Amino acid sequence: MNKEKVMKILNSMTLDEKISQLIMLDHTLLSDNGVETGPQKKLGLAVETVNNIGSLYNIVDRNKLREIQENYLKKSRHKIPLLFCADVIYGLKSVMPIPLGFACSWNPDLVNKCMELVSKECYDSGIHVVFSPMLDLVRDPRWGRVMESTGEDAFLNSCFAEAQVKGLQKDLGVNTVASCIKHFAAYGAPEAGREYNTVDMSERKLHQDYLPAYKKAIEAGAKMVMTSFNTINGIPVSGNKEIMNDLLRNQWGFNGVVVSDYAAIQELIDHGVAETPYEAAKMGIEATVDFDMKTSIYANNLKKLVTKKVIDETLIDKAVLRILTLKNDLGLFENPYRGIELEKDEEKADLKNDFRSLSEESIVLLKNDNNVLPLNIEQKIALIGPYAHEKNILGMWSFLGEKNSFLTIKELMENMLNDNLKYSFGSNIMEDLSTLGFKIEANNLINDDFEIEKAVKIAKESDIIVTVLGEHTLESGEGGSRTKLEIYDKQIKLLMELKKLNKPIVCVLFNGRPLILKTLIENVDSLLEVWYPGTEGTKAIVDILYGKINPSGKITMSFPESIGQIPIYYNEFKTGRPLKESSHFLRFTSRYLDSPNEPLFPFGFGLSYTTFEYSNITISKDKFKSGEEIEAKIIIKNTGKYKGKEIVQMYIQDIFGSVVRPVKELKGFRKIELKVNESKEITFKINEELLKFYKSNMEYGAETGEFILFIGKNSQDLNAIKFKFIKN
Ligand code: GLC
Repeated sequence: MNKEKVMKILNSMTLDEKISQLIMLDHTLLSDNGVETGPQKKLGLAVETVNNIGSLYNIVDRNKLREIQENYLKKSRHKIPLLFCADVIYGLKSVMPIPLGFACSWNPDLVNKCMELVSKECYDSGIHVVFSPMLDLVRDPRWGRVMESTGEDAFLNSCFAEAQVKGLQKDLGVNTVASCIKHFAAYGAPEAGREYNTVDMSERKLHQDYLPAYKKAIEAGAKMVMTSFNTINGIPVSGNKEIMNDLLRNQWGFNGVVVSDYAAIQELIDHGVAETPYEAAKMGIEATVDFDMKTSIYANNLKKLVTKKVIDETLIDKAVLRILTLKNDLGLFENPYRGIELEKDEEKADLKNDFRSLSEESIVLLKNDNNVLPLNIEQKIALIGPYAHEKNILGMWSFLGEKNSFLTIKELMENMLNDNLKYSFGSNIMEDLSTLGFKIEANNLINDDFEIEKAVKIAKESDIIVTVLGEHTLESGEGGSRTKLEIYDKQIKLLMELKKLNKPIVCVLFNGRPLILKTLIENVDSLLEVWYPGTEGTKAIVDILYGKINPSGKITMSFPESIGQIPIYYNEFKTGRPLKESSHFLRFTSRYLDSPNEPLFPFGFGLSYTTFEYSNITISKDKFKSGEEIEAKIIIKNTGKYKGKEIVQMYIQDIFGSVVRPVKELKGFRKIELKVNESKEITFKINEELLKFYKSNMEYGAETGEFILFIGKNSQDLNAIKFKFIKN
């Protein structure tokens, strides 16, 4: 409908109806008759309020949603449809690898295609908005939610942000959903990696590193933004006018809907910036947070704020208008049953190929000594470990992933190897599930020591041992902060017992974060990092194990050598006493007494079954001015025995600036495929835009001076060449 009609509805609403429209509740509110007194009583909501709420989230059943919408509209005076949202971050029934996994593909185009397919599945389920993508930059693997992020680099995160939003939304027509980006902002930097902990950083770091991906997503047209739980500059975001009004709304021009994270407006009281729900409501609406998720703060306090003239009713009108506009953009007024029309059956979108490709490209080969991989079907394999025959491999944020749509690694390999495969469980993933903070039935816990004995026995009869290990899927994700980042010690004990047999050992690792892999990496010949690889993941793993697919993934978050190094990331500052260049005596340089400075595996690292040679880096001119551009070229050759994909990375170092500048910053990448002995020349264009940063006066711009351009296979293994950016 046109804007006039939307305004007409707004102007005909009572204050109570407008306030109800700002409430988003979850599935626990509803029962068969549409609304029950249960949690509503706990929230202290009037039935009239509940009958007029603006949105429900995390109900994902087309028939249920249809029934809810029908019941709701019968009671709605203005026939304003409910907005249905859901936590579908990387897949609904068909599930992608977790974002920290799919980021290793360095393939935004493929992620864009997969998000289109996710969007179609959500559309067919009656969902209108997904709380995705999560765009928090991360540098601390102690924080469990790194699994939802695409990693530690602002440029790469921005590429994936745009790809995901455009993939989900397209033209917001049929088979699409609206994207709600989260968690605005900088939720990925909690002190000590502890969940929900304080975030405190300089304005420059916030703008230089933590905000770019959100900004790119908004430029890509994201329709909704979710606030983060954390403080910025001492004020929790859900009540932070500087971040919300000044930056998001006024500077960036975002006029879409803002939803608080779960009870985050109420948590302004817990933070200690609001003394009462009344004050919390005032802070939230003044920070232009439109939806109050999961509490009655708005419902029970906004009216008083208006009647006492503490806030102007226009603040509420603007919030309601943004919500009505989103519903209108989704076509809900004309079609409240968008995607779940009675005459329309749920089509099974063919996700497989793209999801399979993405799972394949997300897997990272971290070690492959003596080329133990790829395997061949003549070899006798001992398949051992708790993830070999496990379907819980979709990550914490997958609730409806179709676990029956795929076979386990064990089942796939049995079909291939018949008598050449022996299997043993080996050990539990972890023993004390109560530490996970959920009430989980420890149904299949086994006696580790007995299982280890059994595993060693079958391993003795094998040529190669394939261990399938990892952290519990609930050890990462929300609420999954950890201070020890090794896998469960009985899994290590299992590995050490197998090691005594002096047979080649391959490890397939399932995890939602960079773990401390020092012990693991020292005791296996090959290590395949598979993350939580999605519903096509086990097929991708087996195809890579047997060389049908050559692994090409490269990590987008550094793997620390030790937990004491955290936070560790590639684009650090030099410091005044850089370990390798300082004139100071070794003792007095930036280093540790007990650990190297470098991570175990650096940003951008990943091996292949083949080898790639980089040579002849050149630059078209060694200096350029504003408005000009130069080209950097390099030759890549496949010097190995397998066809393979290679992710060529280009970094730039600004040697001197008005503020300290990182030792390097990713500024471009190319993913290429080369046949055996094939060579390709890769070109990167360099212009002023690539040199911009937040200068000492906080203006975003480039400064003249000397730069080093790097091209290589990861953030450490690079070819370098210098150039200058000069005054006009
Ligand atoms: C959670 C998460 C957020 C999620 C929301 C709704 O606490 O922080 O990512 O979308 O609540 O479930």
